[in-house]
Amino acid sequence: MSKCLWSPLVLLLVHSAVLCISAENATEGLQDVTLAAILPLTNTDYAWAWPRVAPALHRAVQRVNSDPWLLPGLKLCLVHGSSENRDGFCSDSMAPLVAVDLKLSHDPWAFIGPGCDYSSSPVARFTTHWEVPMVTAGARAFGFKDYAAVTNTGPTHKKLGEFGMRIQETFGWHRHALLIFSDKKDTNDDRPCYFAVEGLYQLFGEHNITIRDHIIEADSVNYKTVVQEVRENGRVVYLCCPWDILRTLMVQFWKEGMSLEEYVFFFIDLFAEGMGGHGPVRPWYRGDQDDYAAQQAFRSVKVLTYLEPQNPQYLQFVETLKSDAKKMFNFTIEDSLYNLIAGGFYDGVMLYSQALNETLSEQRGRGWESGKFQRPKQDVVTRRMWNRTLPGVLGLVEMDEFGDRQMDFAMWDMTDVDSGEFQVVCVYNGSMKQLVVQSGRSFQWPGGAPPPDVPECGFKNDNAACLARTVSMHQMVAIVICFVFVIIVTVTVFIYREDTARPRMKHGWMDV
Ligand SMILES: *[C@@H]1O[C@H](CO)[C@@H](O)[C@H](O)[C@H]1NC(C)=O
Ligand SMILES: *[C@@H]1O[C@H](CO)[C@@H](O)[C@H](O)[C@H]1NC(C)=O
Ligand SMILES: *[C@@H]1O[C@H](CO)[C@@H](O)[C@H](O)[C@H]1NC(C)=O
Ligand SMILES: *[C@@H]1O[C@H](CO)[C@@H](O)[C@H](O)[C@H]1NC(C)=O
Ligand SMILES: *[C@@H]1O[C@H](CO)[C@@H](O)[C@H](O)[C@H]1NC(C)=O
Ligand SMILES: *[C@@H]1O[C@H](CO)[C@@H](O)[C@H](O)[C@H]1NC(C)=O
Repeated sequence: MSKCLWSPLVLLLVHSAVLCISAENATEGLQDVTLAAILPLTNTDYAWAWPRVAPALHRAVQRVNSDPWLLPGLKLCLVHGSSENRDGFCSDSMAPLVAVDLKLSHDPWAFIGPGCDYSSSPVARFTTHWEVPMVTAGARAFGFKDYAAVTNTGPTHKKLGEFGMRIQETFGWHRHALLIFSDKKDTNDDRPCYFAVEGLYQLFGEHNITIRDHIIEADSVNYKTVVQEVRENGRVVYLCCPWDILRTLMVQFWKEGMSLEEYVFFFIDLFAEGMGGHGPVRPWYRGDQDDYAAQQAFRSVKVLTYLEPQNPQYLQFVETLKSDAKKMFNFTIEDSLYNLIAGGFYDGVMLYSQALNETLSEQRGRGWESGKFQRPKQDVVTRRMWNRTLPGVLGLVEMDEFGDRQMDFAMWDMTDVDSGEFQVVCVYNGSMKQLVVQSGRSFQWPGGAPPPDVPECGFKNDNAACLARTVSMHQMVAIVICFVFVIIVTVTVFIYREDTARPRMKHGWMDV
């Protein structure tokens, strides 16, 4: 038993090497401050994989260590443990083992990561208990808001929920929403869609929006059932699933002749993985016989993604990230929103260093003499990271009162119905909590206006009050038509009489 427990730990110790990067002109005798990163070592499908993020962490550490005004007398060091299991997936048993291991061997001042939700959860519990800050740009799930030690300098699903709520309010959908997401029962799956949709679920719930949710098994989707589900339970629909499932589903809607102008589908593709490529963005296009149906149906689809930062520092950051990753890992980083996560980690180290500097300045002020700093306890550093603003590589780092970064999002719409091209039509400004429509662009509604979230006569056309109202409406129309008819008849008769009377009069006049 004890042997089983120990072997992975020993293995891990071998893997983790401390790296302290000093500025070339730095003097010796600086006190080491260790940051312990827990991230997946090899699986670069994760946006927070070590080869994607380590170059950014090293850059950040380097920058802090070469800044004489930031953490004077101290030197940041980086140590890494992998949260991957043997199959190369994020693991909720590996991550806490690594955390305990690193805690015992290095007593880090802060943890960096993890990224996956299931591996972050136990680590968040430990770091909160140890009162050691945990700074991550992953761990996006809604539940982490409850952990006192967790600071999130990347996007979170709570912010996605706030974005969704803003959409609901903007278009007057206060009553109802349908959430559809794919999920796997696989233990190696980090359930990205489940957690993404949870952000919407929580925020909508808080605002009394009735939510209906429907799970699809990605391996065996019954499209007819999903169409039925949507027809009977939703008009404003949020979907999170693979792109191919969305496309097949939309084609199915079209083939079943649904009046798609009564529906709107918000597709969640946070890293904009279906919106890339060269030339016009046509996520519905596959070059097969269903393209026409897909293009027509996609007029009711809008896509929600993170917003690519527009500041020049970010472009510079990505260039450096690419060349560093090549040098350090022989790994090629492409242009994608994945780089947002590396930027979030970079900003996290800067934010932590700033907060630590302030905390230690206070320690100094309180008669600090011994020459050695103590690791600040009771999460005072974490508290200093929250509810504040700092410049960063993704633009301003605006931390809210709960330790989450304000994130910007983008909404894409089919701006050209003929070519089927999608563009960013509106940007959600996370700090203002506003939707900002891009200049010269506008939303495209197949029905001319946003559809109501609940149809007038209910989803199944069975709302008694509404039926009564429509009946009286019919009666009203009938009355009006009768009235108009009577008038027409009267006028006609009158004119006819005039006409028949006139010649006689004329006649009479001539007679006179
Ligand atoms: C290290 O060198 C850089 C540039 O030469 C200088 O700006 C910085 O102040 C120096 N740092 C220290 C700690 O001396
Ligand atoms: C939701 O409903 C509850 C109870 O009806 C009410 O107290 C609360 O103010 C409502 N919240 C919002 C955001 O409308
Ligand atoms: C880098 O990776 C490429 C392919 O991914 C490989 O062909 C090349 O040998 C690698 N270079 C080094 C130095 O490992
Ligand atoms: C860090 O703290 C020192 C005092 O301990 C202070 O002089 C310095 O300005 C601080 N640096 C920053 C960037 O705030
Ligand atoms: C956050 O900061 C603002 C001003 O910067 C302050 O008014 C507010 O009370 C702070 N909130 C918390 C929870 O500390
Ligand atoms: C969000 O609003 C703030 C304040 O107006 C502005 O500084 C910032 O550039 C805006 N962000 C985006 C992405 O437009």
